[in-house]
Amino acid sequence: MNENNDILKRHTEFIEKNIMSYVPKTDDAYNIIEQAMKYSLESGGKRVRPVLTLEFCRILGGNAQDAMPFAAAVEFIHTYSLIHDDLPCMDNDDMRRGKPSSHIKFGEANALLAGDALLTHAFSCAASSELCGKRVREAVSALSEYAGVNGMIGGQIVDLQGENKRFNADELFLMDKLKTSALIKAACVLGCIAADSMESIPAAVDFAENLGLAFQIVDDILDYLEGETNSDIVSGKSTYVSLLGLENARKKADEYTAAALDALDKLDADTSFLKNFALKLLKRES
Ligand code: IPE
Ligand code: IPE
Ligand code: MG
Ligand code: MG
Ligand code: MG
Repeated sequence: MNENNDILKRHTEFIEKNIMSYVPKTDDAYNIIEQAMKYSLESGGKRVRPVLTLEFCRILGGNAQDAMPFAAAVEFIHTYSLIHDDLPCMDNDDMRRGKPSSHIKFGEANALLAGDALLTHAFSCAASSELCGKRVREAVSALSEYAGVNGMIGGQIVDLQGENKRFNADELFLMDKLKTSALIKAACVLGCIAADSMESIPAAVDFAENLGLAFQIVDDILDYLEGETNSDIVSGKSTYVSLLGLENARKKADEYTAAALDALDKLDADTSFLKNFALKLLKRES
């Protein structure tokens, strides 16, 4: 238990020490974009995805330096996805992590461009890896697939179609698998690639899919508990909470977490941190 806390501390310190070095410097004339990128990257995210990248790399025998460009790339894409997710044309959220959203702080056009900049630069982060060319190519390709139209973006499209509509269980599964599990898959798969452990990818994907589903259900529960003013409620979003009610949604999150833990047993590695982390995310309060 203590050892798991130490590992988490080590990963998060390593991430905090390095992540901002991946933000490109800009000319004074348009420095607002650099400020907007930094504002969202530094505003208190949990760093779940880069922790997963570093941990998969660690338990599979790789080193943190090799995983960091990939971890940064995934966190840049995650950060862009949240900036765009909050825009008035999407979830229309004025606050993110207890602070004004990017578009409230910098204006809508600058927020849109800050998201674009993070997305574009993510691929430069991944490409800056010093691993062999074949592995870097595999990482860049996986990142693009999981973040793209058949991954996170597809999920965000399905999410928008669920406004003021009651999705069935299959539609909810598809939405969450794409909008949330896909980027978590990218994080775990890139950790395997950084450790040159391609044989671990199927189990990592199975783990990430189930962890992502549980993670999104818990997010929906926390949003629901915020009450009437939450944007999910205002826009009539279809979620596991709206379909099943609070208690059954909690049960579903428990089930997906259990499936995530089972998937880890297929790995020939020490998965105790990952198991503990999945359980901690299930019990999180933000
Ligand atoms: C929020 O993700 C969006 C979802 C996919 C539910 P996180 O809860 O990981 O966001 P931060 O970065 O920690 O704020
Ligand atoms: C976000 O889902 C999923 C993304 C791909 C950004 P939500 O819309 O539920 O995330 P929050 O609640 O705004 O963080
Ligand atoms: Mg959303
Ligand atoms: Mg949202
Ligand atoms: Mg939410």
